[in-house]
Amino acid sequence: MGECDPRMSNTHNYRTGQVVEVTASDVAHGGWCVARPEGGPVVFVRHALPGERVLARVTEVTSRLVRAEAVVIRAASPDRVEPPCPHAGPGGCGGCDWQHAALPAQRALKAAVIRQQLKRLAGIEREVTVEPLPGDGGDGDDEAGPAGSRTAGLGWRTRVQFAVRGDGVAGLHAHRSHEVIDVGTCLIAHPVITDLAIPRRHWPGVVLVEAVAGTGSGESAVIVSPGGTGRSPARSVSIEGVTADSVLRRAGPRNRSLAPLRGRSYLSQRAAGRDWRVSAGAFWQVHPGAADALADAVLAALEPRPGDAALDLYCGAGLFAGVLAPAVGPGGTVIGVESDRAAIRDARHNLREWPWAQVRTGDVAGVLARRALPPARLVVADPPRAGLAREVIDYLSRPGNGAGRLAYVSCDPATLARDIALLAERGWELDGLRAFDAFPMTHHVECLAALSRAAPWTTPGPAAGQRPDSREMTSAVMDSGA
Ligand SMILES: C[S@@+](CC[C@H](N)C(=O)[O-])C[C@H]1O[C@@H](n2cnc3c(N)ncnc32)[C@H](O)[C@@H]1O
Repeated sequence: MGECDPRMSNTHNYRTGQVVEVTASDVAHGGWCVARPEGGPVVFVRHALPGERVLARVTEVTSRLVRAEAVVIRAASPDRVEPPCPHAGPGGCGGCDWQHAALPAQRALKAAVIRQQLKRLAGIEREVTVEPLPGDGGDGDDEAGPAGSRTAGLGWRTRVQFAVRGDGVAGLHAHRSHEVIDVGTCLIAHPVITDLAIPRRHWPGVVLVEAVAGTGSGESAVIVSPGGTGRSPARSVSIEGVTADSVLRRAGPRNRSLAPLRGRSYLSQRAAGRDWRVSAGAFWQVHPGAADALADAVLAALEPRPGDAALDLYCGAGLFAGVLAPAVGPGGTVIGVESDRAAIRDARHNLREWPWAQVRTGDVAGVLARRALPPARLVVADPPRAGLAREVIDYLSRPGNGAGRLAYVSCDPATLARDIALLAERGWELDGLRAFDAFPMTHHVECLAALSRAAPWTTPGPAAGQRPDSREMTSAVMDSGA
């Protein structure tokens, strides 16, 4: 069926498994290209590139759109390359979206998605460049790659979650499916994870195996989730032959806690010139160069001065608080807020040398609403994919709370753009936007938006000799209604 077929007036003319010929026009968020057959619905095509004419097999039909995957490339884009992984094509693993594009083209596609989202959701037109991280073929890399060399775009992923099939084989999920594909070796996995050979052994009684690598240290941890029902999980799992330094088992309600079966429960991660203790189940950037790049970018965006007060919202193991604390010095304050108990313990450990850096426990919106946090001129916020809660945006925008500069770190350009629009309505201006290719071969990208607003109240540094006393701070918080 060709794209000019007049029968294609809506999705009812499509059925799963049918092969259609379409031309991919733009890129769309999520690793898709968009095709708009004349008189037909929008077709989201995977494994295609903008400008390509392809035969695409329909994989899903909804009332509004059609999803398909390119199975034959009739006219290829100059950016097309042979995917390094044999499982990265149609019907294959769902982990990588852009293996069929050269790395610079992958970054250009991600930049286009960020531009689209900013324009659509925030009404902002802005050029965006997605920067490669070290080892992924940027200007700083020599041809053979950086020290400890890995192939550009591969071998970076320091956390991989393997699903275990009924027959005990650990593999990766097919795209938008519960099917588990036996991939053998995942090419984007960090070599420390590959060396654990998770897919080559059997995992009876286990439904999930997570493998985590420590950057710099070369340590590894494996976390197993026992099978069975939530009420009666498998009593024992065999860890014989698992070569990781630590093995942990998910336990407790909703598998929230981790019980060590062997070794310690945390890894050492290297970033910003030091080691960080990070619990095996807690968040840490999965690209070995990402934490470093983001820490630098946050400092550049916030320009902390001695004596400044700063908040690190969704602080995880305290990465940003830990680079802000020495910059604001003992005359300043840094307060991190985090809800994950293991991450809070890590953050307190990682920040222990700076008594002026503290961590508050709980949901960010709840902590901001309930506790009178001192006004802070500088804020870094690094929320999960869902973006900032509306209450957080309102808090940051209340003049009494003092926020004048915001570094917003985001792994989702859509929620970032939505929140930039909400912040702009409340007086914030987007000063800069950087983006990092922290997930090569996939559609994911990490952004850092630098925003500022003219604050009627700012936290002077000790250089100005005017730190606000506690009465001023309290009244500023009360004025804000927090
Ligand atoms: C994207 S991670 C960022 C962590 C840290 N900034 C880093 O770069 O390593 C988001 C963090 O927010 C925490 N989190 C998620 N929802 C939260 C909430 N509602 N309130 C507080 N923390 C939350 C997660 O546990 C996670 O540690």
